[in-house]
Amino acid sequence: MRLFDVYPINDIAIERALGSTVWDDKGTEYLDMYGGHAVISIGHTHPHYVRRITEQLSRYGFYSNSVRIPAQEELASLLGRVSGRDDYQLFLCNSGAEANENALKLASFLTGRSRVVAFRRGFHGRTSLAVAATDNPAIVAPVNRTENVTFLPFNDAQALEDCFRREGDRIAAVIIEGIQGVGGIHVADDEFLRRIRELCDRHGAVYVADAVQCGYGRSGRFFSHDYAGVDADIYSVAKGMGNGFPIGGILIAPHIQPRHSMLGTTFGGNPLACAAALAVLEVMESENLMQNAARMGGLLMDGIRGLGTMQNVRGRGLMIGFDPPAHMKDLRKNLLTKQHVFTGEAKPSVVRLLPSLALSEADALRFLQALRTEAEAFPTHPETTKP
Ligand SMILES: Cc1ncc(COP(=O)(O)O)c(C=O)c1O
Repeated sequence: MRLFDVYPINDIAIERALGSTVWDDKGTEYLDMYGGHAVISIGHTHPHYVRRITEQLSRYGFYSNSVRIPAQEELASLLGRVSGRDDYQLFLCNSGAEANENALKLASFLTGRSRVVAFRRGFHGRTSLAVAATDNPAIVAPVNRTENVTFLPFNDAQALEDCFRREGDRIAAVIIEGIQGVGGIHVADDEFLRRIRELCDRHGAVYVADAVQCGYGRSGRFFSHDYAGVDADIYSVAKGMGNGFPIGGILIAPHIQPRHSMLGTTFGGNPLACAAALAVLEVMESENLMQNAARMGGLLMDGIRGLGTMQNVRGRGLMIGFDPPAHMKDLRKNLLTKQHVFTGEAKPSVVRLLPSLALSEADALRFLQALRTEAEAFPTHPETTKP
């Protein structure tokens, strides 16, 4: 059997990894500034993480949600404390798309309404309603198309208010990334998030904060949405939550009441995933990784701006994007093949940095040096020549 060929891949096979370093099967060492798409939060193969999962596996690997799973309760309690959401409730699933699917479904159950407001360039996953709320027609299959989603321009308060004025009594949820990731690293204005909160309150709609990529400490705060100083009704999380072990979840405000069978999943909240997620939070706390993300993010952004060649350097903490000038279109490829540095991209040519929150200063400086070397290797171009 062949693999179903849906991923444009680099011809690199990773054999082992540690912290922000990975080695391929030929022994070549790479610096990981991509974190396997914002997934590696505490660093590859952290010893505490390996020990936690191994210990759980040696006792028992799985039982269904028909029995109490103490690791789920432990996770809810620790996540509540670290995220500052002690009074919220936790529903566990397996991925970011599933988290958003459940968040929107819950909002619809709660309000009895079916309209979802989403934003241009937003990405929320590839399953039914999550993909319908994603602004990319190329990945929406005919069966996923729905009249239930209204797309508005990002950070446009007037368009949002007009929309609520028109159809406020039909809106179940507003879903928004605190920093758009796949869309190219665009930070939601704090004032815009406060306006969403206000309008949802006024019209009885649910504010869903998609924190799948920008959450879990990556921005320097637990949720990047926290910079706005208001709470969402539901936060969706995944990616960094398990440092590579598949787990997702939604944090649900206390005013939303559960009922049996309202949501459910076979694998969600399994003990191995909980052990991984517990290890992540324990390491985040003991190694002050949120503070490290804020500090390393500042260092990287200052360093990239200091080169003077990269445009629109933006982001928060370790979620950074910038636009190389047009004549440097091969920059990412050269960083990988010549400097052995993994980075991410967003269409058309944004370079995205999503490294581990434990990135060391030495690795951040190594990246800046690699970027400088590759940028300087391009012939001087009028676009980047300083006056
Ligand atoms: C903001 C956001 N939401 C949801 C998802 C979907 O997550 P998953 O791929 O785990 O389903 C992603 C994935 O990139 C994402 O960036």
